[in-house]
This record gives sequence, C-alpha cells and structure tokens, in this order.
Amino acid sequence: MLTMSGVTKRYGETVALADAHVTFDRGHVHTILGENGSGKSTLVKLLSGVVRPSAGTIRLDDRPIELARPADAQRLGIATVFQEVLLAPARSVLENVFMGYDGLFRYRIDRAERRRRAEAALASVTRNPLDLDRPAGTVPLAQQQLIVLARALVREPRILILDEVTAALDFGDRDVLFEAIRAFVDGGRLALFISHRMDEVRRLSDRVTVLRSGSVVETLETGEITERRLLSLMLPDTHIPVGQHV
Ligand SMILES: Nc1ncnc2c1ncn2[C@@H]1O[C@H](COP(=O)(O)OP(=O)(O)O)[C@@H](O)[C@H]1O
Ligand SMILES: [Mg+2]
Repeated sequence: MLTMSGVTKRYGETVALADAHVTFDRGHVHTILGENGSGKSTLVKLLSGVVRPSAGTIRLDDRPIELARPADAQRLGIATVFQEVLLAPARSVLENVFMGYDGLFRYRIDRAERRRRAEAALASVTRNPLDLDRPAGTVPLAQQQLIVLARALVREPRILILDEVTAALDFGDRDVLFEAIRAFVDGGRLALFISHRMDEVRRLSDRVTVLRSGSVVETLETGEITERRLLSLMLPDTHIPVGQHV
C-alpha cells in the first residue's frame, strides 16, 4: 500500500533517517520500534508531509507521491496523530475534532451531523464520554490525546499513523484504542504504530520494523516478534541472559 525506497532525511550534519526501505501492507498494524532518537518521528513526519525527504521516494498504491505539506498527505487519506498533543485549548472539543476538516474536504456538514460524527469518533477511542462543548484545554491531560485521535478518525483515513500516542493515556483508554486500531486495519486499511514500549508492541503489532540510529535494522513478522528478539535488534550491545524476563 505504502512504500519508502531509499528515503533519507538530513538536518544539517545529522542524518535523522538514512536510506530507509520499508513496505507497509494494507490490513496490518505495522509498528516502528526504536530507542529515543532512532528516527521514528522523522519517518512519521516524512509520511505526513511535515518534512520533505533529502533523498528517496515514497509510493502509495505503487505511484510515487509528493508530500510537500501536511494537506497533501491528508488528501491522500493519511491521518497522523503526532507525539506532541496538538490542541487549540480555548476551542471546544467539537471544534478541535473538526479542526482543519473544512479546508481539506471542501464540503460542509451541518452542526448536528458534526456532533454525531465527533461523538462516534470519541466513542471509538474511549468509554468515558467527553463534553463536546467544553474547551479542550480544560480536559484532563490524560484525555487530551483522545481528542486528537478523534480528529484523525473523523476524516475516515486509509492510513492512520500514531506516534507514541499512548504515553499519557490511562490503561482503560489504551485498551479501547487498541481495539479501535484493530478494527481499523481489519477493514483493509493500514495503521502505523510508533512506540518504544515493548508490551504494547508485542500485543498490537502484525509486523515490526526496528530502527537504530536512523537506520532500518530489520522487519519482523508476527511469529518472529518476541521481546528478546526486538531488544537485541534495538540494543545490539546489551547482553540479555537466557531466561531473563524483559
Ligand atoms: N528538526 C530537527 N533538527 C535537527 N535534528 C533533528 C530534528 N528532528 C530530529 N532531529 C534529530 O534526528 C534524530 C532522530 O530524531 P527523531 O526522529 O525525533 O527520533 P525518535 O522519534 O525515534 O525519538 C535525533 O538525533 C534528533 O535529534
Ligand atoms: Mg519521536
């Protein structure tokens, strides 16, 4: 569905991502795993039109695509929830869910329909109802990322990219989110899940691509995904005694 061929991103002297080759298939939760600074968010930003590659090609459905700005990715059906919670705190939850929607899709939907869609999107990521009319900034921090997740889902993307979105979520909301991600890909869509939490990665992933210092180390398939294997790819110099639970 989506491929990166030889994609490199340099920031001056820093090579944030070096010659990345990755194939992302529909129907999969494809995790990107790596330590802090390994290039995960750079990969996310490249696929979201936030930064442009220094070299390489990104293809969607076998066609090269140009992602010069975030709206380009959004129009192609790629919705991203970034690592930083991006909310307009003074605007209502409802306005935040629909933020950017009209400019993107060029058609209007009425207020009642907006409320209905926002409620449905929020209900798919949490069992705790959120007041749509409340300023988003007054929502507890643990729930603010849910508003941004609903913003991504309300666009009905084909590709959902989630960059370390579980960091602030409580366990209940995280479980609901995981169910939503599974339901999303079961419809033949693609989810890119970025995390460095081993338990989550094992639980959710169909495939894991490990990054180390800006390079793709390896991609593991379902049956190959064990904590031991993942850790040895992430941190090759760490000795993990046999039988130790990690
Ligand atoms: N805007 C930027 N300017 C300069 N260096 C950057 C920038 N963004 C990321 N980097 C560097 O690129 C590397 C990869 O960063 P990042 O993709 O954020 O990693 P991760 O998300 O895995 O923690 C790091 O060394 C980081 O310091
Ligand atoms: Mg990051």
